[in-house]
Amino acid sequence: MNHTDQHDSAALKHIEKEFNEWEKNEVESFIKRAPESQSEYTTASGMPTKRTYTPLDLKNTPFEDIGFPGQYPFTRGPYPTMYRGRNWTMRQIAGFGTARETNGRFKYLIAQGQTGLSIDFDMPTLMGYDSNHPMSQGEVGREGVAIDTLADMEELFDDIDLTKISVSMTINPSAWILYAMYIALAQQRGYDLNDLSGTIQNDILKEYIAQKEWIFPVRPSVRLVRDCIQYGSENMKRYNAINISGYHISEAGSTAVQEVAYTMATTMEYVKTAIDAGVDVNEFGPRLSFFFVSQADFFEEIAKFRAARRIYAKIMREKFGATNPAASRLRFHAQTAAATLTKPQYTINPIRTALQALSAVLGGAQSLHTNGMDEAFAIPTEEAMRIALRTQQIIAYETNITQVVDPLGGSYYVESLTDEIEREVWKILDEVEELGGTLQCIDDGYFQRGISDSAYDFALRKASGERPVIGVNMFVQEEEDVEIETHPHDPETERRQIERLNRVKNNRDEEKVQSMLKQLKEQAEDESVNLMPLTIELVREGASMGDIVETLKGIWGTYREKPVI
Ligand code: 3HC
Ligand code: 5AD
Repeated sequence: MNHTDQHDSAALKHIEKEFNEWEKNEVESFIKRAPESQSEYTTASGMPTKRTYTPLDLKNTPFEDIGFPGQYPFTRGPYPTMYRGRNWTMRQIAGFGTARETNGRFKYLIAQGQTGLSIDFDMPTLMGYDSNHPMSQGEVGREGVAIDTLADMEELFDDIDLTKISVSMTINPSAWILYAMYIALAQQRGYDLNDLSGTIQNDILKEYIAQKEWIFPVRPSVRLVRDCIQYGSENMKRYNAINISGYHISEAGSTAVQEVAYTMATTMEYVKTAIDAGVDVNEFGPRLSFFFVSQADFFEEIAKFRAARRIYAKIMREKFGATNPAASRLRFHAQTAAATLTKPQYTINPIRTALQALSAVLGGAQSLHTNGMDEAFAIPTEEAMRIALRTQQIIAYETNITQVVDPLGGSYYVESLTDEIEREVWKILDEVEELGGTLQCIDDGYFQRGISDSAYDFALRKASGERPVIGVNMFVQEEEDVEIETHPHDPETERRQIERLNRVKNNRDEEKVQSMLKQLKEQAEDESVNLMPLTIELVREGASMGDIVETLKGIWGTYREKPVI
C-alpha cells in the first residue's frame, strides 16, 4: 500500500521545536505555581495519557489508516453517510413473563419511538431447559421471556410485522433452536426470508470465556454456530446469524483492549470454521455482526470502537483474503455499561448512561441499548426504559452530533489512542496465535485468567478510591432505605407457561416428533451435516427446546469448565 504521511517532515520538525519550547516555558512555570493533580494519568484500561496531543503523535499514522467513512479500513464508520442517512437503531431490550407480556412491552416501546426490537430470554430458555424441567423452577419468566415452543414465538411477535422491524435475540447455547423457530414463524406467515433483518447473538466462545452460559462442549457448540452462519449465508441475505460480543467480556472485568482483542480472537475462530465448511468469506463476512459495551472512559471507548473497525478490516482482508469490502466492514450494537450503575443515588444513573451512549454514537454504533436507571435493582420497569429511550432520542434529535460523520476523526488524541489500542490488541492476538490459537487458549484458561486479573485490579482501584464512583466512594450521601418501584414478577407465570407447553405437547404428532428426534441424533453424529433444516422441521412439528437439547446432550454430553485460579 502506498502510505500517505499527514505532515511533511519540515512541518513536523517545526512543530516539535515549538512543542518543546511550550513544555519548557508555559508548562513548567505553570506547574511550579499550580501542580497537576497526579504525576501520571491513565485511561481506564491503564494506558498512559499525555497532557495533550499534537501532530507529532500522528507522525507514524498513515492517512490510509484513518481514511474515509464507508471505506476500508472503516476506521471512520461502516457507511459513508452514517447518521445523515439513517440514525442508529434504538434497540431497548425487553423480556419477562410469558410471550404475551413481552409482546405488550414491545408494542409499548415501538409506540415510544423505538426502532428495533431486542429480546432477553429467561434462564431456562437460555440454557435449553423447558419450563417444566426441575432446573427451571422459580426462574420461568423471571429475568427474561420464557420460550418453549414455536407457539410461544407466534405469540411473542403477534401483530408485529417482522419484515418492517429488525429483531435481535440474545441467545447463545440454544441459539440455533430459536433461530429455527424464527424461521418457521416467518415461513408460516409467508414472508420471504430475505426480507427478514435481525440478529441472534449465538456467540458461544465468549460464554466459555466470560458469561459462562453453556450446554455442550466447545467443539459441537462451534459446529452449531457454523450451521447458523452457513444457513443464514445461503438463505437470509439480511440476517446476522452471529453477534460476536465483547460486552460480556468487559462486564466480567476486562479492559477495553482485552475486550476488543478477545472478541477478535473468537471472530477468527468462527471465520476459520465457516471457511473450512466451504462457505465463501465474501458471502458470510458481510453478515458477521458485533456487540461491544460502551463504558465510562469517554475517549477510550470512542477510540476502541474505531480501532475495532480497523483491526477487523485488516483481519478480514489480510488474513482471510476477503475481497468484498462489505466483508471487512464491522457493524456493531452497543450497550451502556450495566456494571457502572449504582444503587446509591440511583437517580443519577441516566446521566452516566447518557455519556456512555454519547461515546457509542461518536464511535459510530449501528444499534444501541441504553440501560435503565433501576439496573442495579431488577430488570427495568416500563418507565425506566422510556427514560433510557428518550436519552437516545435526545442525542439523535437535539444535539446535532449526527450531522457530521466521525466528528472526532483527526483529533490528535482520539487518533493516537485509536492507534495505541490497535497496537495493544495486535500484541494480544499475536500471543494467542503463539499459544496455539483461540480454542487452545480457551482450553488453557488464557482469556479467563486475563479477565480475572483485570477484574481484580479494577476492584482494588475502586475500593481504594483511585477509581471514583460518585455516590459510592465519593460524594456519598446518607440515604434512608431507597424506595424504588421495581419490575414485578408474576408468580403465576410458571404455571401458565407449563400449561402452554403441555397443550402443545398434547396436540402434536408424538410419533413423528420422536422419529425426527432420532434422525437429529444421527445427523448430529455426522459433523458435516447442517442441523438447521431438521431443527426447523422439528420446531414446526411442535418439538420443544428441551426435547432438542436433551437429545443432543445424549450424544455430545455437557461442558465442564477447568477452574482458573
Ligand atoms: N444510509 C442508508 N442506509 C443505511 C445507512 C445510511 N446511512 N445506515 C444503515 N443503513 C441500512 C443498512 O445498510 C441496513 O440495511 P440492510 O438490513 O438491508 O443491510 C439497515 O439500514 C439497518 O442498518 P444496520 O445494519 O446498520 O443496523 P441494524 O440495527 O439493522 O443492525 C447490527 C445492527 C449490529 C448489525 C445487528 O447485529 C444488531 O442489531 N445487533 C443487535 C444486538 C443486540 O441488540 N444485542 C443485545 C444483547 S444484550 C446482552 O447480551 C446483555 C444481556 O442480555 C446478557
Ligand atoms: N429486560 C431488560 N434488560 C435486561 N438485561 C438483562 N435482562 C434484561 C431484561 N429481561 C440487560 C441489563 C443487564 C444486561 C446484561 O442486559 O441491562 O445488565
